[in-house]
Amino acid sequence: MKSFLLWFITSVTYTKVLAQCPELPASLDLESIATLPDPFSWYPLPDTGRIATKEDWECRQQHVATLLQQFELGTKPPTLSTVTASFAQGTLSITAANDGKETTFKATITYPSGAGDGPYPAMIAYGGLSIPLPAGVATITFDNGQIAEQNDQSSRGKGAFYDLYGADHSAGAMMAWAWAVSLIVDSLETTPAANIDPTKVGVTGCSRNGKGALVAGAFDSRIALTVAQESGTGGSGCWRLCDAEEGAPEDVQTAGEIVQENVWFSTDFNEYTDQVERLPFDHHLLAGLIAPRALLSLDNAGYQWLGPWSSLGCMEAAHTIWEALGVPGQMGYSLSTDHAHCSFPDEQAEDLSVFIRRFLLGEETNTTVEKNYPGLVFDKGDWIDWDVPNLA
Ligand SMILES: *[C@@H]1O[C@H](CO)[C@@H](O)[C@H](O)[C@H]1NC(C)=O
Repeated sequence: MKSFLLWFITSVTYTKVLAQCPELPASLDLESIATLPDPFSWYPLPDTGRIATKEDWECRQQHVATLLQQFELGTKPPTLSTVTASFAQGTLSITAANDGKETTFKATITYPSGAGDGPYPAMIAYGGLSIPLPAGVATITFDNGQIAEQNDQSSRGKGAFYDLYGADHSAGAMMAWAWAVSLIVDSLETTPAANIDPTKVGVTGCSRNGKGALVAGAFDSRIALTVAQESGTGGSGCWRLCDAEEGAPEDVQTAGEIVQENVWFSTDFNEYTDQVERLPFDHHLLAGLIAPRALLSLDNAGYQWLGPWSSLGCMEAAHTIWEALGVPGQMGYSLSTDHAHCSFPDEQAEDLSVFIRRFLLGEETNTTVEKNYPGLVFDKGDWIDWDVPNLA
């Protein structure tokens, strides 16, 4: 089995490597966990109790990042020294080379009008933008399907990412897109002509691209704000909760179904889709990789397939991580009543606006957003059997 130290080294784009972190053992002894795994436990390290400090949390995040890559998403390649970018007429052209191969992709920047001279904050949107942005924020779009295709099972290993790393690379499409987002931020840092402030960059997407945006925010610590829109199962939903919600009474997408639909995950995940209780994490911990940076999950109760109850419960569980870090207002979740999929509803306008104004525009807004408009009942006591520590 591959050494876990190696996994740490290959995850450096995610966050700085802390020398004093305990190492995950090379061979894991996995228990079955029916409820949501305790974010504040060192599990699956043997016998080490719970974390106590914010530094422990950073180590815990490294473990979770390693586990998510190993079991579910595939590996994010390390930062490349070969990235070059050029900018002309609103288009950022990014070229990267690896192992004698080269690939190029483009990102299109749309600037705000009448908002000073820049550099501007920006929202990177997968595909196209499907949320309203306040004045003063630029939009950066790119074709994530060109980086990694997502038509169906036949898309496995196809796209610019796999041209560079090989069709059998472990990364599923979402990790490949996250890699591209990191290259966009690398390029903004080295291309002043693009006139974007790389410290004020958010990422967003809807539905499948919302799942992808969550992964991008989780695996690049430079992303200031992540907005996952209607990301549902495989995004803001927890695997265990999707399984529980399925058939109660309607169809909810589950892990077993999602891996048949598309290539968003690593093939390494297939082994766990019918035994998700053996995963040493769930998606409250994917969200937790973003903490204490800002995250807003926008969900839609109108589509049972998305697993709205699962997303609500999973994001309530994730919120405890920001509570433990003393910054509860830096993570918000908002479950809307029924509206057309990926058509942003007025109901959530203020929930979104306060987040973008605070984290991209630097305004002092109140980002306490814990909204459950349809009033779904998620009984925390059934799923969260741990208390929230006050991390020193
Ligand atoms: C922020 O909003 C929350 C929820 O509406 C409210 O409870 C809280 O008092 C507000 N905080 C401030 C400082 O206004």
